[in-house]
Amino acid sequence: MKESLDKDQSNPMGNVDDWEENILERYPDPSQVKKEKEDFRNYVDSERLDTVKEFYRLNHEYQTYDFVCFKEDEFLKFDKKEMSIWEAVDFLNTLVDDSDPDIDLDQLQHLLQTSEAIRADGHPDWFVLTGFLHDLGKILCLFGEPQWAVVGDTFPVGCAFSDKIVYSDFFKKNPDYTDNRYNTKYGIYKPNCGLDNVKMSWGHDEYLYHIMKDYLPDPALYIIRYHSFYSQHRENDYLHLMNEKDIEMFEWVKKFNPYDLYSKAPVPPDANELLPYYKELVAKYLPEKLKF
Ligand SMILES: [Fe+2]
Ligand SMILES: [Fe+2]
Repeated sequence: MKESLDKDQSNPMGNVDDWEENILERYPDPSQVKKEKEDFRNYVDSERLDTVKEFYRLNHEYQTYDFVCFKEDEFLKFDKKEMSIWEAVDFLNTLVDDSDPDIDLDQLQHLLQTSEAIRADGHPDWFVLTGFLHDLGKILCLFGEPQWAVVGDTFPVGCAFSDKIVYSDFFKKNPDYTDNRYNTKYGIYKPNCGLDNVKMSWGHDEYLYHIMKDYLPDPALYIIRYHSFYSQHRENDYLHLMNEKDIEMFEWVKKFNPYDLYSKAPVPPDANELLPYYKELVAKYLPEKLKF
């Protein structure tokens, strides 16, 4: 499958975060809808939309149950790199935007804008830390993973794909779509079996969850693991797989989402000034080195 695609074909988007701009169009900030779009950010150009669509075409065709198992085997050994959070942030920041190097914020700025907006609202420190960490799994791109296996909406595999997932028509090309084991409402799962027993499509969310799972409280882990699961946290279309704990914890995922999407401040945060606070916060919860 992906071997037959060259690097450009498998990475259609100029910027790995272009899909998030598509999310902003799907779920606009309720406080911004009356303002002119240019006010916020001028991202609505059709060329970019085409590349995002092509990105989802690849994502929906190739994210199969078997693919997820394969990536779990490959990455959940954590034998790629040993780094502190700060080394991981620096590493993530080497991700460059092919199409638009001057305009887009770097990855650290997105993390800080998210976490600072959470902090400004007086939330607990683990929530602030979660905002600061939530996209670190995107370093998968730097391990050579294609965009469609790092970012984008996530969704359960092993059961029918919801038609509430963006561009769900593209799932018709996914081999699981016609596989009788996987194409019924429950597929391989039992009603309300709990998301812990459900395999999600592979990407930065699932990867970082496994790195953090021994260190952060449950709500933080739910946020990290399910923050791109829009067909549930926005569309509520997978309740039949969730248990009571999932339902309770998803309140935090929903609370987090606006900070992720709508926290782009007109004046970017001053990373140097904020560093002492975040150094202390990271040290409170996480070990000096982590295995990626
Ligand atoms: Fe993310
Ligand atoms: Fe994010």
